[in-house]
Amino acid sequence: MARRVVTRLCTMAPCAAFAFSFVSAAYGKTCELEIGSTDQMTYDKKELTFDSTCGTVTVNLLHKGKLGKEIMGHNWVLVATPDKQAVLDAALKAGVATQYVPKDDKRILAASDLIGGGGKTSVKVDVAKLKKGGDYTFVCTFPGHSALMTGKVIVK
Ligand code: CO
Repeated sequence: MARRVVTRLCTMAPCAAFAFSFVSAAYGKTCELEIGSTDQMTYDKKELTFDSTCGTVTVNLLHKGKLGKEIMGHNWVLVATPDKQAVLDAALKAGVATQYVPKDDKRILAASDLIGGGGKTSVKVDVAKLKKGGDYTFVCTFPGHSALMTGKVIVK
């Protein structure tokens, strides 16, 4: 349908390019992202880009390793970058009973469950709470993992 309209309206290349970008924006929006993690205490991405026009973005976290969550647990926790260290300190104090996610901590913008090898979990992020161009970090709050397991969220 959209394609037929484009063909009818566009006889010149610039118009076609514009129409293509319009159609991509309408149909190519990504509001669901995936990030993997490993037994080597790493994520497989250092950066995730959120589209600010998504009401919510779903982040799917996969654990591609084999080790259990008691020894190689991974989660995906989103914070404003300046809050990172304080949240990690609070996570350590909160301990395994909370899966290293302190309850009712307003600095935590989103937090997934803790998973072990072969596991998979999802977390929804309320993008309206984030500022376009803001400085956001994701991190695994399992003790000792944050040095390697961290990255940036870009809001566009
Ligand atoms: Co981890």
